[in-house]
Amino acid sequence: MARVAIVTGGTRGIGEAISLALQKTGLTVAATYAGNAERAEAFAARTGIAVYQWDVADYDACQAGCAKVAADLGDVDIVVNNAGITRDGTILKLSYDDWKAVIDTNLGGCFNMAKAVFPGMRTRKWGRIVNIGSINGQAGQYGQVNYAAAKSGIHGFTKALAQEGARAGVTVNAIAPGYIDTDMVAAVPADVLEKIVAKIPVGRLGQASEIARGVVFLCSEEGGFVTGSTLSINGGQHMY
Ligand SMILES: NC(=O)c1ccc[n+]([C@@H]2O[C@H](COP(=O)([O-])OP(=O)(O)OC[C@H]3O[C@@H](n4cnc5c(N)ncnc54)[C@H](OP(=O)(O)O)[C@@H]3O)[C@@H](O)[C@H]2O)c1
Repeated sequence: MARVAIVTGGTRGIGEAISLALQKTGLTVAATYAGNAERAEAFAARTGIAVYQWDVADYDACQAGCAKVAADLGDVDIVVNNAGITRDGTILKLSYDDWKAVIDTNLGGCFNMAKAVFPGMRTRKWGRIVNIGSINGQAGQYGQVNYAAAKSGIHGFTKALAQEGARAGVTVNAIAPGYIDTDMVAAVPADVLEKIVAKIPVGRLGQASEIARGVVFLCSEEGGFVTGSTLSINGGQHMY
């Protein structure tokens, strides 16, 4: 029977590309989303991939959601923690709510999802967890103390959990994308984006499919010796 993978935020952007790439390898994929039902339903109709709505920042919702996926599709062997948000602002302007929302979604979501699936993976002696970090968690970014802290936290979380899973066949890795052509980056003002692209050695934004390719490798059988690593996919913008 095909292994089951959950991709959080898997219905659009980078997550959509990851869901499709994993499906192409023969996995049964469940893609989650937060609230954009229109995009999620169109995605499900187009791809045949099952979609589920829950908030990754909500611990109980992750427990219930993962249990529902397992009941519908089978034991969950792979989780890609891709769901993420930005709420940018310098610390002088950043509200506590915007700090908390970004930490709870980007970093808290990884914890909540791991709590739901890690015990089963350990028991079955096979699992793959891939956490989507960011170049801005590695290098920092003006106006993003919340996002940079959350993404940097993901990299530490990955290395710690990798140590807990290693003997049980559960690998835990991170991918740190640079600037990728998605809705999230489309929200950046054009003049700012132009300056960002000028600093990318390969001279362009990345494509979501280029991140998905890395995820496919980390989730493969042959990826079993790779754990606790962070794969930077950023066009050479930050060599870490
Ligand atoms: N784009 C980039 O250049 C870039 C660079 C580095 C890292 N990243 C990271 O890559 C990941 C994907 O980015 P993207 O650009 O593809 O983002 P995106 O286009 O904004 O899509 C975000 C996805 O996450 C879902 N989501 C957001 N909050 C959620 C929550 N609380 N619970 C469940 N799902 C939630 C969204 O669901 P709805 O559709 O329902 O809103 C959507 O499916 C994020 O973690 C982001 O931080 C992106």
